[in-house]
Amino acid sequence: MKLEQPARAWWKEAAVYQIYPRSFCDSNGDGVGDLPGILQKLDYLQQLGVDVLWLNPVYRSPGVDNGYDISDYRAIDPVFGTMEDFDRLLEEVHRRGMRLVMDLVVNHTSDRHPWFIESRQSRQSPRRDWYIWRDGVNGGPPNNWGANFGGSAWTQDEATGQYYLHLFAPQQPDLNWENPAVRDAVFEMMDFWFQKGIDGFRMDVISLISKGGFADGPLRPDGLYGDPSPQCANGPRVHEYLREMNRRVLSRYDCLTVGENAGNTPELACRYAGFETEELKMAFQFDLMDVDGGERDKWSARRCWKLADIKDVMTRWQTELEGKAWNALFWENHDQPRSVSRFGDAGSEENRVRSAKMLATCLFLMQGTPYIYQGEELGLVNRRFTCLEEIDDVQTRGNCADRLAHGARLADVMETVNYISREHARAPMPWSAAPQGGFTTGAPWIPLHPDYPFLNAEAQQADPDSVYHYYRKLLALRKSSMALLYGHYALQLPNSQQVYAYTRTLNGEQALVLCNFSGETAPCPLLRGRTEHPPALANYAGGPAEEALRPWECAVYLHQTGQSL
Ligand code: GLC
Repeated sequence: MKLEQPARAWWKEAAVYQIYPRSFCDSNGDGVGDLPGILQKLDYLQQLGVDVLWLNPVYRSPGVDNGYDISDYRAIDPVFGTMEDFDRLLEEVHRRGMRLVMDLVVNHTSDRHPWFIESRQSRQSPRRDWYIWRDGVNGGPPNNWGANFGGSAWTQDEATGQYYLHLFAPQQPDLNWENPAVRDAVFEMMDFWFQKGIDGFRMDVISLISKGGFADGPLRPDGLYGDPSPQCANGPRVHEYLREMNRRVLSRYDCLTVGENAGNTPELACRYAGFETEELKMAFQFDLMDVDGGERDKWSARRCWKLADIKDVMTRWQTELEGKAWNALFWENHDQPRSVSRFGDAGSEENRVRSAKMLATCLFLMQGTPYIYQGEELGLVNRRFTCLEEIDDVQTRGNCADRLAHGARLADVMETVNYISREHARAPMPWSAAPQGGFTTGAPWIPLHPDYPFLNAEAQQADPDSVYHYYRKLLALRKSSMALLYGHYALQLPNSQQVYAYTRTLNGEQALVLCNFSGETAPCPLLRGRTEHPPALANYAGGPAEEALRPWECAVYLHQTGQSL
């Protein structure tokens, strides 16, 4: 048990709220959320008790991948507003004592970025080497790699007959980080935003920026293409590049940085985000998203998770990072379905509310910085899609097209979509029961969840027992306790298949967190002698009544360690 004083930092104590601007709030009726829309909701966010806002990309972009294909890193896309709108938002966020973090998308640009337009002109172009160009092999692409959004990872370009690499859509060519001029340009651009006063970056697919070779990859589970990740994820120079970025830019600012690190492991996280390694502050892990095959096998696996796997993953990360690196905790983001539908129970209103509260309690009281995705604080759920025409998302469409072209049944494809597609998270925020949930006065760019007339922010703000108010209490409780912020994590009841129980302990203060991950009553011997003490937080009125947890029940007890567990 660690008893020394932790090194405190604002980014460790903060809770981050992720805003998907396109779907957050539309101020001008064009059906797309925008920066002035976010401005209107700052009071809501402040009342929730979050400290940092992370915005998905708002830079100028043709929008093939909703802003992850950037054509000008120093401009705001007109659909979101103007640079003046951005400056105003930043100022208002800071005035409220909150911070603003931007998305940094520098593994690739848009194919409409002037750098790529110049690069593709000829083999002699001064910017040719800013991207990754190769000759074809035997009349086909240079290797068997598949892109993340379906199809080959190589596209042949007419001007020269060579192929360029795109690990995502063909409109997202990969930058060549080997070229020092590319790094200079990226670092200068980052500095531009820091000079404006932003508080950090979430770094898109940052573990892919160093390519270690171009040999064929092992066939992916879909059997269609080779997997580029053995050579592209966590490549040979990635740490060198991040240390250079840190030395030249990040170390000059008091900022939050978090990498989106495909293929992350606790060992790698201790390098990417080690307290001593001078790269990033945090690195997302995807092991938790993989307990049902959600990352590695997204488009082909059978879905089924076990609590034992969730416990194993989280306990490993909590234990192996302790004292060395800081965890980034999330159930949801714009690339995942809704967590209540996936790990809780969206089948009844009672269980939706209970399980949403339980999931937040279980994860966000662990050691690390919580990342809450817009609408998660309302316990939003997936909707049902019946055909692919209802889907906007380039990833879902591309991968489903591949599966259908190789003989999959539409019904099976739709089942996967309804379970795992990132389209679920992207439905516009339901603010109220007004038409289109008060998200827009026009036609929304994609439909809202049909439940918005009763599942919305306004209704939950008016209901003291709502998921929203529970999140407020949860975030406040976390901040009030040094044990919850910095305490040593220890798993309890390791063999229970229903209950996730753990303690957090620091300097004589201990928190006990109990969570029932099932719709059945679950025995919980740790409740012995405890039922007459009110918990610090619980999702059933008055807290657990017996030595068992009711369906999806959770409770948090705080005490001094002199007291028995
Ligand atoms: C990341 C983003 C995702 C995007 C992809 C390509 O995974 O989170 O939304 O499509 O990178 O930039």
